Amino acid sequence: MTVRILGLDCSPRDKSNSGIMLDTAFTRLGETYPGEVETEIVHLRELHLEPCKACNVCGKTKDTGKFIPCVRADEDDAQAVLDKMIAAHGILVATPVYFGLPSDLFSKFIMRTRPLRHQDFKLANKPVGVMAVAGRRSGGAETSIIATWLPFVRNGCLVVGNGDGTCQFGAYGWAGARGHVLTDEWGLVQAYQTSDRVFTLARLLQAGVEASGFVSPMKFSYSQGTRP
Ligand SMILES: Cc1cc2nc3c(=O)[nH]c(=O)nc-3n(C[C@H](O)[C@H](O)[C@H](O)COP(=O)(O)O)c2cc1C
Repeated sequence: MTVRILGLDCSPRDKSNSGIMLDTAFTRLGETYPGEVETEIVHLRELHLEPCKACNVCGKTKDTGKFIPCVRADEDDAQAVLDKMIAAHGILVATPVYFGLPSDLFSKFIMRTRPLRHQDFKLANKPVGVMAVAGRRSGGAETSIIATWLPFVRNGCLVVGNGDGTCQFGAYGWAGARGHVLTDEWGLVQAYQTSDRVFTLARLLQAGVEASGFVSPMKFSYSQGTRP
């Protein structure tokens, strides 16, 4: 079984510390589990991404079971990333810390996942881990990580920390200039641990799905707790 792990680099600058954290973690993951894992990193800054226009069309059919794609699906590159997220068994997000939050690039992109939620939670049960890079040692990495988790929880994903050893909330990089994170040994260890945790959970879940044929019963409903 090959586990597909997708990394989303949410920094707006090239040679980003966020991208480096993903890259070093994925390299080690491949060395640890040769032939068992496929990784890919998408650098969101390289894509044409429009914001969600809040037309609400993707939820229009509500409980009828008829899915309507995003009206912007043909306008930009978002759908291609959504397809990669659906195909992945696990997802790692790496973001710079901006004012104690994930980057605006992350926020803009993640709103575009709303159609997947409306289409009976196409990201349901995928493990998701987060790496956040901050210029300051107590600059808001934890709040950024938790804020990054929230849209994934709403998408029915399973958020994970960095697992055994210290069991923190994910990875905290400490870096300023581009490439600086390569000197943050502990940050890179946490980045690997977080990717390992996503890989482990993804593999266990995939094995369970293949052995049992069990299909996630999650169904999107507007009639539960929504004001029309
Ligand atoms: C708009 C902006 C806001 C920032 N806010 C914070 C912050 O709240 N806390 C912090 O420690 N660093 C902050 N930083 C510094 C970045 O998090 C830091 O440079 C990080 O290494 C960038 O990661 P990247 O190379 O992946 O883009 C900010 C940087 C920018 C440009």
